[in-house]
Amino acid sequence: VSSWSKDKPVPESYIFPPETRPGNLIVPTCKTIPVIELCNAEGRNRTDIIQQILKASQEYGFFQVVNHGISENLMNESMDVFSELFEMPDEDKVILYSEDPKKSCRLLTSSLNYDREKVHQWRDNLRHPCHPLQDCIKHWPQKPIRYREVVAALSIEAKKLGLRILELVSEGLGLESGYFGDKLSEALHLFVNHYPPCPDPSLTLGITKHCDPNLLTILHQGDVQGLQIFNNEEWIGVEPLPNAFVVNIGNQLQIISNNKLKSGEHRVVTNSRVARTTAAFFIAPSEDSIIEPAISLVGEASVYRAFEYKDFLLDYLSHIGSNEVVLGRFESQSL
Ligand code: OGA
Ligand code: NI
Repeated sequence: VSSWSKDKPVPESYIFPPETRPGNLIVPTCKTIPVIELCNAEGRNRTDIIQQILKASQEYGFFQVVNHGISENLMNESMDVFSELFEMPDEDKVILYSEDPKKSCRLLTSSLNYDREKVHQWRDNLRHPCHPLQDCIKHWPQKPIRYREVVAALSIEAKKLGLRILELVSEGLGLESGYFGDKLSEALHLFVNHYPPCPDPSLTLGITKHCDPNLLTILHQGDVQGLQIFNNEEWIGVEPLPNAFVVNIGNQLQIISNNKLKSGEHRVVTNSRVARTTAAFFIAPSEDSIIEPAISLVGEASVYRAFEYKDFLLDYLSHIGSNEVVLGRFESQSL
C-alpha cells in the first residue's frame, strides 16, 4: 500500500461492507483505559499496581504503561528506524517482500491471507522473530543501516518489560512466581505495521477486529491515533501517550487464567493526514507448549481443555475475526 496509494482513490477491493467499516462514527479516545506507572511496582505501592493491572485486564484486556524503564531515546530511535524502513525506495523493500510462509523475516501487505480474503487491509507489515536473537538477527533487514542494532536493543528491553508485567499478573492471580516464565513466554515476535494515509478512512480498516493469539502484547503505537478496542459493544480509541507502551492480554493468558482475564478485541482505523507506524512485540509460548488453565484458578470447572499451542495457532488463522469461535473451539465441552 505504501508504494502505490498516494493520490489514488480507495480501490474497490479495500472497501469494507457497511457492517464492518468504521463509517463516519466518531469514536471517543478513551480516558478510562488505565495508565500505569510501572516504576511504582518496585516500591511500597506494589499491591496497588498489581490491582490496577488485574482490574484493567479484566475490564478491557488493555492498559498502558509509563515509567517502565525503557529509555525515551531507544524508543524514539526505534520508531525512526521503523518509519525509515517503510520510506525506503521500492527496490530496497522488494528484497524483504515474500509470500513464502516459511521465510522467518518478511514484508507483506494486508495479511497472511491476501489471496483469499474478501477485502484487503490498508497496511503493510514487516514481521520476524526476535528470539533467540543470535539465530534470527541474521535474517533481519540490513537497511536501514541501524535496524539490527536498534531493534535488537529494543526487543531485549520489550521482552524484559513483558516478563516483568507477567510476573505482576501471576502475583495478582495468586500463581507461583515465575509461572509465565520459561516455555510459556519463550517466543518473541515483532510486527512492524505501517498504515499510509488513506483517502477515505470511513471505508477502510488498517486491521480488522481481532484478539491477539499469543500470551501478552507490548505495543508502541507512536503518536498517531488509530487503535480502537471493542468494549461493552462499542469502539473506543486508545490515546497515544508519549513514551508509553500499550499492553494487551492475548488469548493464551485468558485461557490460562480460566477467563479471569480477558483478551481484548481491537482493530486499527486509518486516517487521511499522516502515515502511522507501530511496533507490536508478541510474547508467546513455544509452539510445543501445552496450554491449559492454571489448576489453582480452575475452581469448579475448567473452561478450557489442554492443547498444544501450535494447534491453537493453526485453528486461529482460519477463524480470525471471531474471538468467540476461536476460544469456543478450545473449551472443555468442545472435546
Ligand atoms: C496487531 C495490532 C495495533 C496497531 O498488530 O495485532 O493490533 O495499532 N496492532 O498497529
Ligand atoms: Ni492485535
